[in-house]
Amino acid sequence: KIRAGILGTGSALPSRVLTNADFEKMVETSDEWIVTRTGIRERRIAEAGEATSDYATVACQRAMESAGITADQVDHIICATVTPDTMFPSTASIIQDKLGAKNAGAFDLSAACSGFLYGVSVASALVEGGRCRNVLVVAGDLLSRITDYTDRSTCVLFGDGAGAVVVGSVPEDRGFLAFDLGSDGSGGRFLHQPAGGSRIPASHESVEARQHFLKMEGQETFKFAVRAMGASTEKVLDKAGLTREDIDVLVPHQANIRIIDAAAKRFGVPEDKVVVTIHKYGNTSASSIPIALDEAVREGRAKEGDVVVMVGFGGGLTWGATAVRL
Ligand code: ACO
Repeated sequence: KIRAGILGTGSALPSRVLTNADFEKMVETSDEWIVTRTGIRERRIAEAGEATSDYATVACQRAMESAGITADQVDHIICATVTPDTMFPSTASIIQDKLGAKNAGAFDLSAACSGFLYGVSVASALVEGGRCRNVLVVAGDLLSRITDYTDRSTCVLFGDGAGAVVVGSVPEDRGFLAFDLGSDGSGGRFLHQPAGGSRIPASHESVEARQHFLKMEGQETFKFAVRAMGASTEKVLDKAGLTREDIDVLVPHQANIRIIDAAAKRFGVPEDKVVVTIHKYGNTSASSIPIALDEAVREGRAKEGDVVVMVGFGGGLTWGATAVRL
C-alpha cells in the first residue's frame, strides 16, 4: 500500500510591505484598531504587472528543491487560487510551462481559503491510488487584485503570496493520517466576488458598481470560522485516532488572530505549538497555510516525525482540515 505525505515545502512573498500606518493615510482607520481586531501589523503586496503564477512558480521551485526532485519528475500540478492570472488558461498550466514540468497534468482548484487543504487531499488520493508519484500542490493568491482599497472593513485584512508542497510516497509510519473537507453553499453570500463570472460578466456597470471587488460580511464570517475550525479539527483528530495532546504543530488559516486564539484555546494547544504569520503577512487566502507550514519547517519548529494539524475555512463557504506526520 502506498502512503502519501509531504516531501518538501516552499513559499514566496512580494518584498513590498504595506503597514498599518500606510492604511491610516488611505482610509479612516488606525494601527490600534487593526492590531486589536485582527492581529495584523503589515502585509505584502505584489507590484503592478505581476501575477499569481510569478509567486506560485517560485514557491513550487523551492518546494521541489526541498523535496529533492526535478521538474520532469512532477506528474501533476494543482493550483488553488481565487485570483488566477487569467480565467483560462489555468494558472496551473502557466506554472507547468514556467517550471518546464513537461510530464505534468495541471488544473486550478477553487475553494477560496480552504483551497490548499482541498488540494493536498486530491494529491494524496492521486499518489495513494498509484496514478501519480509526485504532485505539486501550490496555493497562490494576489488578493490585492480584488481588494477594494476604499472599503476599510476589508482592505486592511488581505495580502499577497504563495505556498507549495510536493506530495509523494513516504514510509508507512509517516504521511497523511486523515482529512475533513466540507462546504455550506448557503453561506456563499458572506464572502464573494459578485462580478466577472457568467452571472454578472464584466461591463462598465459592474465596474462602476465595484462588483469586481471582494465583499465580506465580517461578523458572519467570524462566527462561521470559529465554528468550522473547531468542528473540522475535532473530526480530523477523531478520524486519525489522535487526541489533542498528539498535536505537535497547529497550522491554522491566518485570517484573524482572534480566530486562531479561539481555536488554539478550544484544543488546549499551547502558544508555542501554533504557527502565526498573520502579523506580518495578513490574510493571504489559500496561501496562508502552506506559507506558515513552510516557515515552521524552515525554522525547525515542524520536524520529521511531528504530527501537524492544518485547518482552514473560506469562501464557498468551505472548510477543511488534515493531520499529517512529517
Ligand atoms: N478601521 C477602523 N474601524 C473599522 C475598520 C477599520 N479598518 N473596519 C471596520 N471598522 C468599524 C466598523 O465600521 C464598525 O463601526 P460601527 O460600530 O460604527 O458600525 C466597527 O469598526 C466594528 O466593526 P465590526 O465589523 O463589528 O468589527 P469586528 O470586531 O467584527 O472585526 C473583522 C471586523 C476584523 C473583519 C472581523 O469580523 C473578522 O475578522 N471577521 C472574519 C474575517 C475573515 O475571517 N475573513 C476571511 C475569510 S476567508 C478569506 O480569507 C477570503
